[in-house]
Amino acid sequence: MSATIRVCSTEDVPKGGVIAAEIDGTPVALVHADDDSFHAVYDECSHAAVALSEGEVDGCTLECWLHGSRFDLRTGQPTGLPATEPVPVYPVEVRDGDVYISLTPSNGVTR
Ligand code: FES
Repeated sequence: MSATIRVCSTEDVPKGGVIAAEIDGTPVALVHADDDSFHAVYDECSHAAVALSEGEVDGCTLECWLHGSRFDLRTGQPTGLPATEPVPVYPVEVRDGDVYISLTPSNGVTR
């Protein structure tokens, strides 16, 4: 089990929202989904170098604002074109009102 790093408090991310965080030099998009789950992905679209944290959360997906590909927050896979490659997904843990992540991708995708 790799080390987990505290990102923020759960209250720092509005429900249905996403924030950008930099963890040990890695840009991360941290999502608070409508079902109260938290998800973290590498904060760059796999199609072009734009920040996914500037996109929209929709259910358990994060939509890229530039061309509209949606990424499944559990698998990192795009659910539609133009992106075809998955983004790294980081394990998230919520403990005592704080959000922690590990920088070892749970889906095996690295950048
Ligand atoms: S840059 Fe994200 S879909 Fe094109």
